[in-house]
Amino acid sequence: MGKIRAAITGVQGYVPDYVLTNAELETMVETSDEWITTRTGIKERRILKGEGQGTSVLAAKAAKGLLEKTNTDPAEIDLIICATVTPDMVFPATANIVSDEIGAVNAFSYDIGAACSGFIYALSTGATFIESGRYKKVIVIGADKMSSIIDYTDRTTCIIFGDGGGAVLLEPTEEEVGIMDFIHKADGAGAEFLNMKAGGSRYPATVETVMAREHFARQDGATVFKFAVTNMADYAAKIMERNDLNADDVNYLVAHQANKRIIDATARRMGVTDDKVMMNIERYGNTTSGTIPLLLWDYEKYLHKGDNLVLAAFGGGFTWGAMYVRWAYDSK
Ligand code: UT7
Repeated sequence: MGKIRAAITGVQGYVPDYVLTNAELETMVETSDEWITTRTGIKERRILKGEGQGTSVLAAKAAKGLLEKTNTDPAEIDLIICATVTPDMVFPATANIVSDEIGAVNAFSYDIGAACSGFIYALSTGATFIESGRYKKVIVIGADKMSSIIDYTDRTTCIIFGDGGGAVLLEPTEEEVGIMDFIHKADGAGAEFLNMKAGGSRYPATVETVMAREHFARQDGATVFKFAVTNMADYAAKIMERNDLNADDVNYLVAHQANKRIIDATARRMGVTDDKVMMNIERYGNTTSGTIPLLLWDYEKYLHKGDNLVLAAFGGGFTWGAMYVRWAYDSK
């Protein structure tokens, strides 16, 4: 028997209907469409509106669509991993809520929190369960309702983030496709530059933490930018080197959508041309754990079996890394 690899056998995304445009943001904070477009590449993002609507809504819609599309019985799912930094509640895990929503009665499920690197961390974790031979069907989700932790009076963050998510199905294969390699890194010294200070065990919610607006995501944008450019580019290049891939061998760069300038710098470092760079930041902004599955969903129609994809991400933690994925099917 050959080596068992974990193949992505389906992908589905979900974004809510409400479109928050740069024009609307201009009415909320001191900013301009021109500034946002040139500094980030973002034109609009989606927002999940409505009372009692958490990240599980985004995640369950993506997972349900994935089951339908791949003709999978939810009872066959062994494991659901949901990457998110905006869980419905501190506990239980959003993945538990999703498994109930979609009828995955035989699955166990849990969340992974690695901020913008959450989806690649979760994907490699799910793949490892498949490669071990223990499980046959794993759903990996990346979803975030970032609007729930964004301060819409802070122009340095509110223009960047949006809501959305996506899900992939992982199944075993003995072919030379699937999750081929990954490198993940973390450095907790980065915590001070990108975090949501209150609401955890260190600073539980009080009237004071709410008044001080400490339940919102904050970042030192310039510092995060510097680390993100260096590490995403370095690790995308490292994973290529380690797998003897040159720029011609790479069909697509699938990079976390935080800032178009960071993605462009990563592509330049890899030597890949713009036509090989998956990009949808202009329509969804930064959906944190959602960006990479949303890219795969948007570009699925262009992908062919055997295509070489380099995934790269950088985010809060700091966390970062890169993956080499060989696409496992031709889109129908
Ligand atoms: O996904 C997780 C990881 N996150 C990231 O990777 C994000 C990394 N950081 C970034 O993408 C960028 O740093 C930002 C988009 C957040 C900011 O862009 P920047 O080019 O680094 O701008 P800056 O923070 O250096 O600010 C430049 C100027 C400042 O004005 P002064 O001090 O030069 O007068 C800001 O106050 O731009 C001002 N500014 C704005 N102006 C108009 C900041 N935000 C805005 C805004 N509209 N929304």
